[in-house]
Amino acid sequence: MDRREFIALSAIGAAYLLSGCGGGSAQDSATTTTKSKALPIPTLEKGVVRNGVRHFDLTIKAATHSFFDGVQTATWGINADYLGPTLLLRKGEEVSINYTNTLPEATTMHGHGMHVPGMMDGTAHQPIASGETWSSQFAVKQVACTNWYHPHYLHKTAPHVYQGLAGMIIIEDDASNSLDLPKRYGIDDIPLVLQDRFFSSDKRSLLYDPSRMQVMRGYTGDTFITNGAIEPIFDAEAGLLRMRLLNGSNSTVYTLQFSDSRAFDQIATDNGFLEAPVRMQSLTLSPGERAEIVVDLSSDLGSSLALLETRHGKTFLTIRVNKEQTAATLLPTSLTSLDPVPTPTKTRTFTLGMEGMGNGMQGGNMTFTINGKSMDPNRIDVTLSQGDVEVWEIVNPMMVDHNFHIHGTHFRIISRNDDPNAVHDNEKGYKDTVYIPARSRVKFVVSVPKDGVTADAANPYMFHCHFLEHEDNGMMGQYTVS
Ligand code: C2O
Ligand code: CU
Ligand code: CU
Repeated sequence: MDRREFIALSAIGAAYLLSGCGGGSAQDSATTTTKSKALPIPTLEKGVVRNGVRHFDLTIKAATHSFFDGVQTATWGINADYLGPTLLLRKGEEVSINYTNTLPEATTMHGHGMHVPGMMDGTAHQPIASGETWSSQFAVKQVACTNWYHPHYLHKTAPHVYQGLAGMIIIEDDASNSLDLPKRYGIDDIPLVLQDRFFSSDKRSLLYDPSRMQVMRGYTGDTFITNGAIEPIFDAEAGLLRMRLLNGSNSTVYTLQFSDSRAFDQIATDNGFLEAPVRMQSLTLSPGERAEIVVDLSSDLGSSLALLETRHGKTFLTIRVNKEQTAATLLPTSLTSLDPVPTPTKTRTFTLGMEGMGNGMQGGNMTFTINGKSMDPNRIDVTLSQGDVEVWEIVNPMMVDHNFHIHGTHFRIISRNDDPNAVHDNEKGYKDTVYIPARSRVKFVVSVPKDGVTADAANPYMFHCHFLEHEDNGMMGQYTVS
C-alpha cells in the first residue's frame, strides 16, 4: 500500500472509530466539525535559570479558545488560551514558579503532588490578587513523577479549573532518565489532560451551572476533551507510546480502555514509578489521579485505535499509527524499588458525609463534611510532626463516590474494605489521591518525611475530596507539619 492509500484508509478508520464510539449524545453533532483536529501538545516549559534558581514565569489570563470550528469560546489559561504549559522540573533543583494573575478576580495556584512547604503550596492561604504575582519557591525533593498545577481558591476551585486553569508538571531524576522508556515529549511521551465540559448553546462559553444533584453525583459534561480539544487525533510512531494521563475533570471518574481492548502497561502512579509494569486492559482514574501507561503500537503501522472512556461511552483520543519508529525502546521489567511501607504508630478515621439537605434538592444548604465538619480555613484538624507514620482510614458510607487527596506528602494504600488483597496492583506505588467508591473504605499509611519541609497553622496543608464540587462545598480539612 502506498502512502496515499494508507492516509486515506487511516482517515476512514479514524472516522469509523469516532462515529462508532460517540455514544449517541448531543456531542456527536459537535464532533463532526472537529474531527480532524490534531492533539494539542502543551508547550514543554523548561524555565530560565537565574542565580541558580530555575524560574518559570506564568501568566494567568482570560482568553478565547477554539473547541469548535469557527467558534471562539471564552476561557482562562496560563501562558495559553486554555490549560497551561507542562513544567519540567528536576530532582535536586531550586525552582521558582512565578504566577502573575491578570484575571479580574483573585485565584491561587497549587502544585498537586508537590512535596513543598505549606507556604509554597498555593492553597486558599496564598491567594494571588488580581494584578499580583505570587512565587512558589522550593527545592525539588521527590522522585520522578507526573504532577499538575491548578487553582485552589476557597469555594471557587471548581469554577476556576472549569474555565481552563490547569497544567502538568513532570519531575525527572537520574532513574527516570536512565530507564529505557519512551521520553521524547510530544512524540512518544505525551501528556493527556482528560476533562469533560458543558458549553452554552452558542458554544461561546463554558457552562458551569451544576444542579444540586450534579453537585452530589458529579458534574459530568456532555463533551469530553483531551488537552483542550474534542476527540483529537494523534499521529504516532509504530513503537512504544508513553501516555501521561491526568484525570483533570471536576468530578467524573474515568475508566479508560483502547478501542480494540488491547493490553497496556501502567508504569507510574501519582507520585512515582511502580516497581514493575502492571499489565491491564482498563484503568480507572478518579479526579486528580495520574497514571503513566505504555502501549505497544509496533505492529500497528497503517491502522488507528482510540482511547475510550467506557463509563460514559465517549472517545478521548484517536491514535493514528502512521510513522515509522525512529527510536526503539524496550519496556524494562523492573522500574524502581519503593521504600518499604513504614510501621504506623497511630490510626485516625475520616468519615465522609453530607448534611443540610434543607428543602430537598431545591433549597437549603448542602454541605459536605469530613468527620461531621465542613472546611474552616481557621481550624486545624490534624497536627503531625516530621517522622510521624499513621494509618488513615477513609470511610465513605454514602451512596455516591468520593476520593481523598492529601497535600504535602504521599501515602501507601494498605487495604480496601479491610482487605489487603483488594488493593489493586497499580495502586501499590506512591499515591496522593485515592478513589473511594460509594459505600467503601480505604486505609493508607501516611508518613511525614524528615527533610525540613513543614506547614504551620498560618499556611497548613489540606486534605480533601478531589471531586471539586464536594471540595468547594466543604469536604476538606487542614493539617500542620512541625
Ligand atoms: Cu489537586 Cu488540594 O488539590
Ligand atoms: Cu493537592
Ligand atoms: Cu466527594
